[in-house]
Amino acid sequence: MKTIFSGIQPSGTVTLGNYIGALKQFVELQNEYNCYFCIVDQHAITVPQERLELRKNIRSLAALYIAVGIDPEKATLFIQSEVPAHAQAGWMLQCVSYIGELERMTQFKDKSSGKEAVSAGLLTYPPLMAADILLYQTDLVPVGEDQKQHLELTRDLAERFNNKYNDIFTIPEVRIPKVGARIMSLQDPTKKMSKSDPNRKGFISILDDPKTIEKKIKSSVTDSDGIVKFDKENKPGISNLLSIYSIFENKPISVIEAHYEGKGYGDFKGDLAAVVVKNLSPIQEKYHSLMESDELDRILDMGAEKANIQANKMLKKMENAMGLGRKRR
Ligand code: AQP
Repeated sequence: MKTIFSGIQPSGTVTLGNYIGALKQFVELQNEYNCYFCIVDQHAITVPQERLELRKNIRSLAALYIAVGIDPEKATLFIQSEVPAHAQAGWMLQCVSYIGELERMTQFKDKSSGKEAVSAGLLTYPPLMAADILLYQTDLVPVGEDQKQHLELTRDLAERFNNKYNDIFTIPEVRIPKVGARIMSLQDPTKKMSKSDPNRKGFISILDDPKTIEKKIKSSVTDSDGIVKFDKENKPGISNLLSIYSIFENKPISVIEAHYEGKGYGDFKGDLAAVVVKNLSPIQEKYHSLMESDELDRILDMGAEKANIQANKMLKKMENAMGLGRKRR
């Protein structure tokens, strides 16, 4: 059975973008692959986090993984900082990375631009992400489009390590969804939807209540010609909303366009809000019941145990290949 690894940062509450670009795919793939799903809390601290808020977000993200349909008996769900091999392997891969290639990462440029105090971790986070993936001999990484560049770097680092030291890493492939790989901000449809966007109207959180969802969709930025038509270049706002509708209702965009011919944005936005609410409410119900139970800790303990066993095996191979410590079997 082939292996999948993917992670989400507990840097806020998961958005529709994270759900469509990542989580939804995970649920579809868990029956066919040996899956590792990770709460990458060490990635989250590359930008400042409030301690108690981070703790809360970690637990909340764990509950959301289960609430969207991840089955902990099939997939391994765990917290990155509870598997120390990630940070250890991340260090080794930093030593295989070049500063120039890390500085070229678009996410680093976006997150550091205009800031005075930028953590070194923001620059060196891609080798840690490479470690996350390579420790599990991952074949496939399902992510949104924004992570494609980091995946290419992961492949480069794995190949570089294999050539220089020992051929131990599987070279992972990336899997990006055909529709919804990049859900855009509701307030600025040229920018991706992000859970850490300071403008909360820009994103729909998977836990937003029906009124908030309706308000956010109704006040989303669209053009002024009033025609419900997919045209990413000239009508990015309405195109983004059409993608969300199409994914949630599992209908081709052309069918939705035909349905709204002659109707205005008001009708379309109202219906889209109802569609989003209908899809999110069962997830929210499950989420709230999980947050009140002890089940979550049991699942995360089990996940950490399984992930530690696997990751430590690979870590030893890496240390042996690089000549660190004493030779162990
Ligand atoms: N807007 C998006 N559309 C589709 N997929 C998306 N992803 C993120 N935003 C979108 C995918 O969600 C997964 C988890 O992402 P992450 O938490 O590891 O970090 P990120 O990509 O930086 O996501 P955010 O929401 O923008 O977080 P912050 O605001 O903390 O930086 C990934 O598979 C990602 O591709």
